[in-house]
Amino acid sequence: MRTGNINHAFLDRVLDGSLADFYYHFGLSSKDPLLEQMHGVRAIIMAGSGRRIREFAEHWSILNDGAEILAFPKDDRFIARYTADILFTSHGMGMPSASIALQELMRLLYFLKKGDLEEMDQVFWARVGTSGGLGLPAGSVVVSTEGVMADLKPYRLLKNVDGQYWFEGSFPVKICQEIIAANADSSMNVVSGKTVAGNDFFLEQFRLDGAISFETPETRMAWLQLLHDNGVRNIEMEGAMVAGYLNHWGFSRFAMICATLINRLEGDQVTSTPEQLHGFSQEAGAVLFNYLKTFLLEHRPVQSPPEDGQTRDAEPDWETLRQAAVAALKKSYSPYSGFPVGAAGLTEDGRLVCGANVENASYGLTLCAECSMIFHLCSIGGGRLIAVYCVNDEGQALMPCGRCRQLLYEHGGPDMLLMTPQGVRTMADVLPQAFGPVGFPYC
Ligand code: URA
Repeated sequence: MRTGNINHAFLDRVLDGSLADFYYHFGLSSKDPLLEQMHGVRAIIMAGSGRRIREFAEHWSILNDGAEILAFPKDDRFIARYTADILFTSHGMGMPSASIALQELMRLLYFLKKGDLEEMDQVFWARVGTSGGLGLPAGSVVVSTEGVMADLKPYRLLKNVDGQYWFEGSFPVKICQEIIAANADSSMNVVSGKTVAGNDFFLEQFRLDGAISFETPETRMAWLQLLHDNGVRNIEMEGAMVAGYLNHWGFSRFAMICATLINRLEGDQVTSTPEQLHGFSQEAGAVLFNYLKTFLLEHRPVQSPPEDGQTRDAEPDWETLRQAAVAALKKSYSPYSGFPVGAAGLTEDGRLVCGANVENASYGLTLCAECSMIFHLCSIGGGRLIAVYCVNDEGQALMPCGRCRQLLYEHGGPDMLLMTPQGVRTMADVLPQAFGPVGFPYC
C-alpha cells in the first residue's frame, strides 16, 4: 500500500490513543466496544441501499451457520451490519454520499487493523449496485475494469481555483478475473467492462427524461455510442470515486459489481417493477457471493502463512478447525448410518479445507469425511496438510479409520497433527511404520 497517501498526521494519533476518531455518519467512535469484535474483518461490502445491506448480511450469516449479526448504532443515513468477518454498509446515492461512507470506512479499517498495512491490504472491498447497461440486456451483471467520469476521464475534485485532485480509477484486473471465474458456471450474464459514474442520474447520464434536459436524441446517442466504442458497459453513480479513493491508499483487492436495470441504447426510463428491480439487485449479490464463497470461505486463514521455506512451529487454532469441521458435517449425506462426520484441515499456506461423509446404497462405496476433504484440497490446487480435525455431530474428535489415516499420511506426511479423543497426535503416532509416497518406486 502507498503509505504516503494515508493521513498519518490524524490517524496515528487515534492509534496511539491521544485522539478518539468519530465515525459520525455511522454513529460510532474508535472507543466503541463494538469495534473489539471487528478486528478480524476480511471484507467490506458497500451498496447504495440499506435494504440490500440487510439482505446481504443475513445471507452471509446463513452461509456461516447463522453467525451473529451486529448492527451499528446509527441506522438512518447509512445502514451497517457486521457478520462472519464481513462489514456490510450502505453508502447512499452518488459520489458525495458514497465518499463520506468510504472515507469513514477507510479510517475505521486503519484503526481496526492497528495501521498494519499488510493486514489492511488483505481486506477485500466491493461496491455492489445497479446501473444502466450499454448494449447489454437488463439483468446482466458488469464487473468493472475501470471507473471513469462522463468525459471518460478519471474522477477529480476541485483543489483551488486553478487546480484539481485526480484519482486513478482502475479496478484490479486479477480480482475482476477471479470474480468472473467464480461465476463461470452460473446462468447469469456476467461480463467485464469500463463503468461511467454520472454525477447526476439525468443530466450527466445524458437522459432525455429529466426535469431538465440539455440533450437531443442525437447528442444522447452520440455520447452513448462513444462510451460503448471505448469499452464502457454500464453507467452508475459512484464507481470512479470508489476506485479512485481505494487506489489512492494503494489497496489491491477491490471490485465493483453492478446489475443492469435497462439497456441505455434502447431507452432512458427504468420501467421495471419493484419485484424485477429487486431480482436484478439480487443478481449482483449472487455474483458477489459466488466470489466470497470461493475466496473467503474456502480460503479462510486459520493462521498467517509461514514465510517461504520455513515450517510452522506454532500450534494451529484447533477451535477454529473444530468449528469448520462441525460446519462441514452439516453437508453430510449419511442416510444409512445416521452418523454424520465432518473434517477440516489446515494447509501449510494457511488455507482451510473441509469435507463430510457421503454414503451410498452400496454401503462399501461410502466416502469418509476425510476423503471428501482430500478431494477439496486437490480441487483447489493441492498442498500439504499440517493439521486435521474430524468430528461427530456433537463436535467431538473422532479417529479416522485406517484407510483415511493412509489418505491423510499421503497429503500430510508423518509430522501432520491430528486431533484425537486423547489430544493432539502426529500422523507418525497414529500410523506407525507407514507406507507412503516417500521412496515410492513409481513417484
Ligand atoms: N443507476 C444509474 O446510475 N443509472 C441507471 O441508468 C440505472 C441505475
